[in-house]
Amino acid sequence: MDYGYLMEEAMKARKMAYAPYSQFQVGAALLCTDGSVYTGCNVENASYGAANCAERTAFFKAVSEGKRSFRAIAVAGGKKDAVDLEPCPPCGICRQVMEEFCSPDFVIVLGKNEADYQLYTLREIFPLPFGE
Ligand code: THU
Repeated sequence: MDYGYLMEEAMKARKMAYAPYSQFQVGAALLCTDGSVYTGCNVENASYGAANCAERTAFFKAVSEGKRSFRAIAVAGGKKDAVDLEPCPPCGICRQVMEEFCSPDFVIVLGKNEADYQLYTLREIFPLPFGE
């Protein structure tokens, strides 16, 4: 898979972010093993704790449409008016959601743009997961 393409999709999804409280806009693009891609953005709320991250939006969209098998997710995040994005590592809750559906070698693509990114595995960024 072209991870640059996945980063581009995450950057496009970031444009849909609803982040009036933090002004921090995030987009994610989730690649399923069947080749389909689900995107998501963060969706905030006046009750701050009700916010949903871009990564979970993408996962929940995919899972709610019957997808259960995933290969990679790209994340693009930064302040609303940022000229250059910086890598945006997933929060702890999103890592736990990834753990629910993905194998340890699931790929997380973090970067500044479609030409400047790094690859991580889920186990690298979430080394001691909780599971039942
Ligand atoms: N956020 C994400 O959507 N994904 C991340 O990986 C980190 C944080 C969102 C949550 C909140 O809307 C805003 O960024 C600031 O934390």
